Amino acid sequence: DDAELLAGFEATIAADQRIEPRDWMPEAYRKSLVRQIAQHAHSEIIGMQPEGNWLLRAPSLRRKAILLAKVQDEAGHGMYLYAAAETLGVDREELTEKLISSKQKYSSIFNYPTLSWADIGVIGWLVDGAAICNQVPLCRCSYGPYARAMIRVCKEESFHQRQGFELLLALVGGTDAQREMVQEATNRWWWPSLMMFGPGDADSPNTQQSMAWGIKRHTNDELRQRFVDMTVPQAAALGVTLPDPQLRWNDERGVHDFGEPDWDEFAAVISGSGPANAQRLAHRRRAHEDGAWVREAAQAYADKQAARAAK
Ligand code: ACO
Repeated sequence: DDAELLAGFEATIAADQRIEPRDWMPEAYRKSLVRQIAQHAHSEIIGMQPEGNWLLRAPSLRRKAILLAKVQDEAGHGMYLYAAAETLGVDREELTEKLISSKQKYSSIFNYPTLSWADIGVIGWLVDGAAICNQVPLCRCSYGPYARAMIRVCKEESFHQRQGFELLLALVGGTDAQREMVQEATNRWWWPSLMMFGPGDADSPNTQQSMAWGIKRHTNDELRQRFVDMTVPQAAALGVTLPDPQLRWNDERGVHDFGEPDWDEFAAVISGSGPANAQRLAHRRRAHEDGAWVREAAQAYADKQAARAAK
């Protein structure tokens, strides 16, 4: 009966073992996972746009090949994640519809424009750096297919982070104008990167339950702190200043103090009025419509094969 099933589920979570697709799970656990995994998948897919914007303007063939590989990796991450969501009984078509009709979210970070070439480096350094910080613990998520997808995703993300840092090292070793370009990009991306971790713990409705279920392993504020502590020495190595006058080492706490992101801006961006929301969704919708003939052709082919096999 239900009580027995629930006890079995809870024992698996308590023993820190994985829940697999065929296992019984509470409906709320399933729903919360679909919510998070779908949002994560959508983020990867929408995240291709800000960087895709620079593919034709990369300054050398080498940089173009690297960026192309990175954008393709993101498509791959989206695919693994949609596949992980499908093990929970939803399908990709349904999730795509929810993305393009704004019924499901994607990460706030991808609603900011990429204005200079340094943005490509800073996205690798800060945005992928924040993504790794947030995603490494998800490799231990209680839901098996999500946890396993995260292992490969994280390996690829660390390559992305390093390519960004390496790109920036080349720029800061260049001219004054190039160093200024890196500083200016850092100024624009720093606060939105901190917002990637989500609202502060006191304002995060999902954290407590997600931690109890072993979906999340750390709170939003814990991971944000970890990211700040990890990034400060990297900024020093690049010779850039992080744009936060309150940022300083706190000897007593053994971590950095830092300022508060602009939560009104965060709320505006996740509710659809960030600088590039309309453009990102319009582009995604157009790509989906342009691809309709491919889906129809694949379906017609599958139907024909099935009809032949049935003869
Ligand atoms: N951008 C957009 N929406 C956000 C963000 C953000 N940066 N942070 C939080 N939210 C949303 C949450 O999805 C939630 O909305 P919902 O209830 O309608 O789904 C709401 O704000 C409240 O937030 P929380 O209660 O803190 O939500 P949650 O516990 O899910 O934590 C987090 C948010 C940390 C983003 C979590 O979902 C997570 O770890 N997701 C997986 C990682 C991910 O999605 N990364 C995508 C960007 S990185 C990349 O793709 C390179």
